[in-house]
Amino acid sequence: MKMKMSLVSIACLLAAPLAFGDAAEVYAKNCASCHAKDGTGNTVMGKKSKVKDYTDAKVQASFTDAEALKAILEGKDKMKGYKDKITAEEAAAQVKFIRAFKK
Ligand code: HEC
Repeated sequence: MKMKMSLVSIACLLAAPLAFGDAAEVYAKNCASCHAKDGTGNTVMGKKSKVKDYTDAKVQASFTDAEALKAILEGKDKMKGYKDKITAEEAAAQVKFIRAFKK
């Protein structure tokens, strides 16, 4: 019985980041192939699809949070929308995550 309890709590701990939509994980899985882990867009796919460098303050100033959210949900240029893949909360967390790349 004791054993069972601890297994359940470990399982809960492991599941927690996913349940809360861990932004870093969502980004790494869905976005980093184009936007790069560091937000620069310095990947093969990123260069091909001409993503901008999100560490650049000027690039960050070129779109609003609302525009970023719309791009994430509905897509923009070569980027397809993610509204069927991630929740609205996760998409909003991605906007914050993208903002944090600014140097
Ligand atoms: C297939 C490559 C690709 C993937 C994967 C991708 N993007 Fe993009 N993304 C682009 C391109 C191309 C643009 C348009 C050019 C730009 O603004 O950098 C863009 C634009 C954006 C913008 C700026 C919107 C604006 O109004 O300028 C945000 C924010 C963004 N992507 C976030 C994300 C997030 C978050 C994910 C993952 C959920 C993601 N992207 C996945 C290619 C991609």
